Amino acid sequence: MSRKFFIGGNWKCNGTKEEVNKIICNLNEAEVPSEDIVDVVISPPFVFLPLVKSILRPDFHVAAQNCWVRKGGAYTGEVSAEMLTNLDIPWVILGHFERRALLGESNEFVGDKVAYALSQGLNVIVCVGDTLEQRLAGSTLSAMAAQTKAVADRVTNWANVVIAYEPVWAITTGQVVSPAQAQKVHKALRTWLAENVNADVASTTRIIYGCSVNRANCKELASKADVDGFLVGGASLKAEFVDIIKSATVKSA
Ligand code: PGA
Repeated sequence: MSRKFFIGGNWKCNGTKEEVNKIICNLNEAEVPSEDIVDVVISPPFVFLPLVKSILRPDFHVAAQNCWVRKGGAYTGEVSAEMLTNLDIPWVILGHFERRALLGESNEFVGDKVAYALSQGLNVIVCVGDTLEQRLAGSTLSAMAAQTKAVADRVTNWANVVIAYEPVWAITTGQVVSPAQAQKVHKALRTWLAENVNADVASTTRIIYGCSVNRANCKELASKADVDGFLVGGASLKAEFVDIIKSATVKSA
């Protein structure tokens, strides 16, 4: 089963309209593998979504970085899934570790968000990961299983879901995750999906890797069997993001 490579660019809380124009101009001019080979999804902050969508090349798509857990209404400061679909924003990132850790989003809350966003027709990049404490305790897989189970309990159709594995311990400590370590965790997560959801979901769901991906490490990471792409933070704001997109050719070669 071949899974199409997926590259997400998560800008987090960064950017000015001048920087947005510069980044998008650079992406629009880049020669990259075709849409048959790689899905490229750019995720600017909410306020820049309409601008990015209006100027971005048509073979790249946009994602919001979050959305509200249910239908909109009296939820000050939130943006609903309905608003995203109304603006033809096709993707949303949910459960990023920064929201889990800094804003206290629980596994169940993230699971509810994923289910609601899918019900509104959005495609979802759901992030799962392990903290330093969990890694040191040897509970990487159980932590990720709990996060994935909260999604599996609420979702039956996984066709529009991409899972991003983000080793929080590596981001917070500056340690580097080796491609072999990434592959090991991705494979274990796929096995969990096979055993707890079904074999079809396990073989078709893209599991992408997200932590300090850059121009230097992307090709080796991309060569690993269960690494189906990347969720790129810092490097997605830089010119090297184009090189990371090109790493998709490692899989299609
Ligand atoms: P990073 O961020 O690439 O800057 O490590 C990845 C992420 O948190 O999505």
